[in-house]
Amino acid sequence: MPAAATGRHALHCADCLDLLPTLPEASVDVIVTSPPYNLGIGYSSYDDRKSEADYLDWMARVAAALRRVLRPDGSFFLNVSGSSSQPWLPFELIVRLRPLFALQNHIVWVKSIATADDAVGHFKPVPGERFLHRNHEHLFHLTQHGDVRLDRLAVGVPFKDKSNIARRGHTRDLRCRGDTWFVPYPTVRSRTQKFSHPGTFPIDLPRWCIRLHGKIAPVVLDPFAGTGTTLLAAGLEGGRGIGIEIDPDYVATARQRLAETTEAA
Ligand SMILES: C[S@@+](CC[C@H](N)C(=O)[O-])C[C@H]1O[C@@H](n2cnc3c(N)ncnc32)[C@H](O)[C@@H]1O
Repeated sequence: MPAAATGRHALHCADCLDLLPTLPEASVDVIVTSPPYNLGIGYSSYDDRKSEADYLDWMARVAAALRRVLRPDGSFFLNVSGSSSQPWLPFELIVRLRPLFALQNHIVWVKSIATADDAVGHFKPVPGERFLHRNHEHLFHLTQHGDVRLDRLAVGVPFKDKSNIARRGHTRDLRCRGDTWFVPYPTVRSRTQKFSHPGTFPIDLPRWCIRLHGKIAPVVLDPFAGTGTTLLAAGLEGGRGIGIEIDPDYVATARQRLAETTEAA
């Protein structure tokens, strides 16, 4: 199926394993993606219940196809999570990808945080009394050789104590955010406000990844594009997005979101 007309972005309704080999080698600056986690999530058409061995084999094949299209100085941000019944899976996966990529950073995406007597953000409650609620997911930053220069201050935060700016020899009121990123979901009251998709990420997550990579007008790929969040983020960060999504309903949602953003611009 040809790519949908989505302004400067390309959105393909296809299996990424079929589509990725058609993209030119070393043509992508940043990959930001959240694949199916193999946790039995109720997607519209994709069956999220492979055997663990099949899932890891499949993801290794996808990762090899992604390595081919990634530029040597590119960044691949892989968002995955485990569950109470599958706690090892994200770690099994990242070890499996070790022959293909260097693990340059491991960012923890914090969805909800509790301070002394306050809590901010949302999470899916875990039933029973054995497990804590899962308030975080993994965001693995993979590169070809572990030596990609980043623009850390592009996602920096102001110093709390301004005297640290001069005292520590900084030139700007910005310090590195570190590797725990608090990115809460916006509050919603129905599934339709989440685009009727069971596993979207908030748009700030791909935006921060693209900014951190630090290239002007980057080519940004999401091989599991879902509702197009990464493509929207690419547009907002001045880049060009390439999305691949197997489910035609999600492709239609992504196309609509992109059209609404273009109209609003
Ligand atoms: C976790 S969701 C991604 C959601 C996305 N980050 C968003 O914010 O909308 C994973 C997506 O991968 C899609 N998918 C599953 N297998 C695929 C394949 N072989 N090729 C392309 N997309 C696939 C699923 O339909 C699902 O929409």
